[in-house]
Amino acid sequence: MTDWNEQLSEMREEYDSVPLRKSDLKDCPLEQFSLWLEEAAGAGIPDSNACSLATVDEESRPVARAVLLKGMVDDCFVFYTNFKSRKAVQLGNSPSASMHFPWFAMQRQVMITGKVEKFEESKTEEYFRSRPYFSKLGAWASRQSEDLDSRETLEKAFIEAREKYGDDPPRPPYWGGLALKPETVEFWQGGPHRLHDRFLFERVEPNGWSVRRLYP
Ligand SMILES: Cc1cc2nc3c(=O)[nH]c(=O)nc-3n(C[C@H](O)[C@H](O)[C@H](O)COP(=O)(O)O)c2cc1C
Repeated sequence: MTDWNEQLSEMREEYDSVPLRKSDLKDCPLEQFSLWLEEAAGAGIPDSNACSLATVDEESRPVARAVLLKGMVDDCFVFYTNFKSRKAVQLGNSPSASMHFPWFAMQRQVMITGKVEKFEESKTEEYFRSRPYFSKLGAWASRQSEDLDSRETLEKAFIEAREKYGDDPPRPPYWGGLALKPETVEFWQGGPHRLHDRFLFERVEPNGWSVRRLYP
C-alpha cells in the first residue's frame, strides 16, 4: 500500500504562470471574476462554474459542499438548491457564507464572502423551466439532506414524479435560487518560490470597492 506520509510530503507544484499585477486588475471584482471564469471555461477546466459553498451550523461549525454557480445577477452570485436542505436551513439561521472557486489547473483561486438571500422568484421559475427534463424530476424525487433508506426508494420517487407530472414537471415549492451578495472577493494567483499574488476587494458602501494586496 502507498505510504502516503512520504508521498504527500514530496508532492508539490511549482507555480510559474503569468503574475497578477495590480495594474491588470479590474476596478470591480465582479468584472475580474467574470474574466477569470471565462478564462477557466476557455481553458477547458471541467465544472469551471463549480465552487465550494461554506456555511455554518447552529454550533458555528463550518460545513462546505460543492454547488454550481448559475448566474451573476444584480452583483450577486446565484446558485440553486432545495430550500429544505442542510445548507439552506443553515443559511436561514445564519446568512453568512463563503464561495471558493478552485481553478488549481490555472494556479488560481477566488474566495468570496457575503450574505445569502432568496433569489427572485420569477428568475428562479425561468431557470427551472430551462433545466433538462430529468433534472426537473430529480428535484421532485430528492428530499435533499434527509436520511434515505435505500437507492430503490429514491428511484421509486423519481418514477412516481414522472407518472404524476408527465411531460412538464412544475417547480417544487421547496426548490429555488439563493443569491450571495459579495462583501469581500479575493483573487489568488500562484507565483514562483511561493511568492504568490493576492488581492482582496472589500465592499465600500454604497457602490464602491477598495482593494489591497496581501502577503501570500
Ligand atoms: C460538482 C458538483 C456540483 C453540485 N452542484 C450543486 C448545486 O448546484 N446545488 C445543490 O443543491 N447541490 C449541488 N451539489 C451537491 C452538493 O454538493 C451537496 O451534496 C448537496 O447540495 C447537499 O448538501 P447539504 O446537505 O449540505 O445541503 C453538487 C455537487 C457537486 C460535486
